[in-house]
Amino acid sequence: MKIGFIGDIVGKPGRLIIKRHLKRLREEHFLDLVIANSENASHGFGLTAKNCEELLGYGIDVMTGGNHSFDKKEIFELFETHPVIRPMNYPLSAPGKGIYFADVNGIKVAVLNLMGHYTMPMVDNPFTMISGVVASLKAEGITHIVLDMHAEASSEKNALLHIVGEEVSAILGTHTHIGTDDLQVIGGCCYVTDVGLTGCRDGVIGMDKAVPLKRFLSGLGGHHNIPNECQAIFQMVVFEMNEQGRCIGAEKIKIYDDAPKVVTSAWMD
Ligand SMILES: [Fe+2]
Ligand SMILES: [Fe+2]
Repeated sequence: MKIGFIGDIVGKPGRLIIKRHLKRLREEHFLDLVIANSENASHGFGLTAKNCEELLGYGIDVMTGGNHSFDKKEIFELFETHPVIRPMNYPLSAPGKGIYFADVNGIKVAVLNLMGHYTMPMVDNPFTMISGVVASLKAEGITHIVLDMHAEASSEKNALLHIVGEEVSAILGTHTHIGTDDLQVIGGCCYVTDVGLTGCRDGVIGMDKAVPLKRFLSGLGGHHNIPNECQAIFQMVVFEMNEQGRCIGAEKIKIYDDAPKVVTSAWMD
């Protein structure tokens, strides 16, 4: 089974570069399921119903979230009607769920979403929570488990690999919008600290550079904007799992809108 995982989609430039490439990549790589973090898909903040439908139409099957999950209130309804989840360690009373079960040719795939602590909203401890969740999935016979760890600190994501790496098929980091160069397949788990954004690559983490630079240079802020035109990047991790749900190989695909495709590979010994 092959799965594609796209990191944070940022605004319209992110959605459009997915439109341009994803259907072809699904065929070229024989992808059975595509998961994408969509917390910034609607002008950088949250996900609207319209953009959710748009992304489903481009070939995304499941959408995860993060600290921006609740920015657009329309998502409350999407949680009930669409394959959209948010981090599972939000308080129990928060709308939505943190697990989605996808059926891939009769095999149940659990997509999990978790959020770290550093600089993040107050959520339950992801590290003490995750082992119990994974154990109960395993007890139900579910072996294909994909985890989106949405966190600022690389250490939090890296630590998670040591906590549940031997039990899950993949741990894909999101949130920083900057892709890291540590894709690996270790002990049957596909791991990367951050997949990186899909959207504008010539601003500051997908946003127009004006407001972040003003903030850093003068201490004054403003409303973040996403340019209508920019140089975009598409980033996706593709990984393959065996029948036992262990990852046996992974690739990171980067497509610049004005340059050749870059592929980085990681294979299990
Ligand atoms: Fe994000
Ligand atoms: Fe985030």
